[in-house]
Amino acid sequence: MSDRTESRPVESLNEEEARAELARLAGQIAEADLAYHQQDAPIMSDAAYDALRRRNTAIEERFPALKREDSPNEAPPGAPPAAGFSKSRHGTPMLSLDNVFGPEEFAEFAARIRRFLGLSAEEVLRFVGEPKIDGLSVNLLYEDGRFVRGATRGDGMVGEDITRNLETLDELPRQLPAPHPARIEIRGEVFMTKPDFLAFHAEQTRLHEEREARRAAGEPVGPAIRIPVNPRNAAAGSLRQLDPAVTASRPLRLFAYAQGESSEPVAETHSEYLKRLEGWGFRVNPLSRLLPDEHAAGAFQAELAEKRAGLAYDIDGVVYKLDRLDWQSRLGFVGRAPRWAIAWKFPAEQATTTLLDIQIQVGRTGALTPRAVMQPVNVGGVMVQHATLHNEDEIARKDVRIGDTVILQRAGDVIPQITGIVPEKRPADSRPFVFPDTCPACGSHAVRPPGEVIKRCTGGLICPAQQVERLIHFASRNAMDIEGLGIENIELLHREGLVNTPAGIFRLKGHTERMRGWEGWGGRSGKDSRKITNLLAAIEARREPSLERFLFGLGIRRIGAQNARLLARHYGTVEHWRQAMLDARILGSEAREDLGGIQGIGPAIAQELVEFFSEPRNLEALDDLLREVHPQPAETVAEGALSGKSIVFTGSLETMTRQEAEARAESLGAKVVKSVSKKTDLVVIGADAGSKAKKAAELGLRTLTEAEWRELAGMG
Ligand code: IVH
Repeated sequence: MSDRTESRPVESLNEEEARAELARLAGQIAEADLAYHQQDAPIMSDAAYDALRRRNTAIEERFPALKREDSPNEAPPGAPPAAGFSKSRHGTPMLSLDNVFGPEEFAEFAARIRRFLGLSAEEVLRFVGEPKIDGLSVNLLYEDGRFVRGATRGDGMVGEDITRNLETLDELPRQLPAPHPARIEIRGEVFMTKPDFLAFHAEQTRLHEEREARRAAGEPVGPAIRIPVNPRNAAAGSLRQLDPAVTASRPLRLFAYAQGESSEPVAETHSEYLKRLEGWGFRVNPLSRLLPDEHAAGAFQAELAEKRAGLAYDIDGVVYKLDRLDWQSRLGFVGRAPRWAIAWKFPAEQATTTLLDIQIQVGRTGALTPRAVMQPVNVGGVMVQHATLHNEDEIARKDVRIGDTVILQRAGDVIPQITGIVPEKRPADSRPFVFPDTCPACGSHAVRPPGEVIKRCTGGLICPAQQVERLIHFASRNAMDIEGLGIENIELLHREGLVNTPAGIFRLKGHTERMRGWEGWGGRSGKDSRKITNLLAAIEARREPSLERFLFGLGIRRIGAQNARLLARHYGTVEHWRQAMLDARILGSEAREDLGGIQGIGPAIAQELVEFFSEPRNLEALDDLLREVHPQPAETVAEGALSGKSIVFTGSLETMTRQEAEARAESLGAKVVKSVSKKTDLVVIGADAGSKAKKAAELGLRTLTEAEWRELAGMG
């Protein structure tokens, strides 16, 4: 694979390889376009996208005959409108911009303009430089001065009609003061500022976590919460809401910068046009500037690069537009971009700093996540001090060590990434990072199941990082089902320090005075006073839960409702279960074999139970809880012949499936187990039975043939 065409220089490709490369690039670019424009979910960085396009263009230039009909350079930018909005055709196409990355490329761009227009070297080329904001471009149609329609870019020809949503923007003029053309399209960028984005991001993250908690507790959840990755993504998602009220609640801004169709000319130069926009009440970026000649672009670029960090919004470059509109129209467009404008992009925002520490954070579900703590550094206008290191393997793969100089990158995204280290700066005494085996929040041991990347804390019931999550689960509908004890109230009770553990819920009645002091909980009469009484009554009503609800409520990993039922049926009483779990901590013990042998449990789940019981403080919390609640023995079929008996099926049955036989046994109150031990009451022996039959005989257990079993089970 060393000579994969995708990494080879364009000059070295032969015709066949070039054709294959163009096909690959067309596919990748189309996919990226769709993700970016229609799904608001970019799948690659801007830099990677630009690299693909440049490579595509370079190959096309070398092999013009191979240019595809669906070449990304011919295809309109963007993607077709998504379902849900009606379509809106633009008066003139909304195009995109070509990029340059340095002064030579910019000079080439200016030289192309001179050649095209046949201008001498003496002729001055004036450009307007404008910050390139990474938002969402919109087309705004005004008729007789009134805003009548607004659309996204869509595929460049047809966009989505988002008029109602745009009307919620404060910065959008509804009526243009006269004079104005009878009909005019004005274009601009809708965006979110960095502070607004950060607040919105935090809020969405909180809503997402709440939803996850609800889901984990088996409660109904609403639609998925989208966490935006960058301001552009947030602006796009906000504008494309089917409900304008949602858009209205989002802090969106608008800068106007271009014109589309117009029933009459409104200016002779772009700079003059920008003034007209301001006169009509649009916001034009105050940093936009008419430059005296093309050579001033470099200094303007440097000036904005310098300002970039301090701006309230993200910019990823500068757009240079030829000022004279008559020249603009002579130059026209090529493929998807105008010949008279270019985007000069900034390099990705990077910085280096020292890694001071690697902290381990404990998530609400017990996941241990490493977080880099760095000497604070400015990366593209955001002071950065933390970055995620994802997991244990990631740290090992990058060999990131405390004391290293790390390279941080922020590519328009909120959370910066550590992209690598500077090996020459590594201190001589540095050591590879050792991921801890204990939970930093509670000291319980942390385990990483085989095949998983996440290490988890086992101190479920006592770990402060997990308490809220555990309490929510414990009280939830499929567990203890305590009415009135939903997420909000649990968070409140926990925040106020009244409830830390499940047992604490049952001691809440000692705190009524405190609760009465809270807003909405207080009054001595009416709804408020009933709130506390009702809650306490709901709690009292759950002091004798079924064993299976109780076991499920403990929130032991992998013990969902189904497995809790199996355990309840198998062990019958909580005392029995508790003792068996303690005994099962010893590998190879009878209790361990018995546990792993329960139909549907198996060794991995047995291991989770053992981990839980190996943490002494979990046991303390369990016993504490058992002083408050008394789980009822598991439901068994009333006084059936097999009530409470444990039964093993071995060999193949001829008149019924194994599944049917086991279901029947369970419905009669028996516990079906897989392995034979001296505690087994019955062993049903089918054809070709092997070691289990032998063991049953050795232990002198009661055995049944299939026919005898049918008889006993009332199956005739
Ligand atoms: S002019 C024909 N001016 O950049 C010219 N675009 O990569 C069309 N953008 O689709 C665009 N700031 O979303 C123009 N001052 C600015 C801009 C700007 C941001 C965005 C816009 C456009 C994209 C092109």
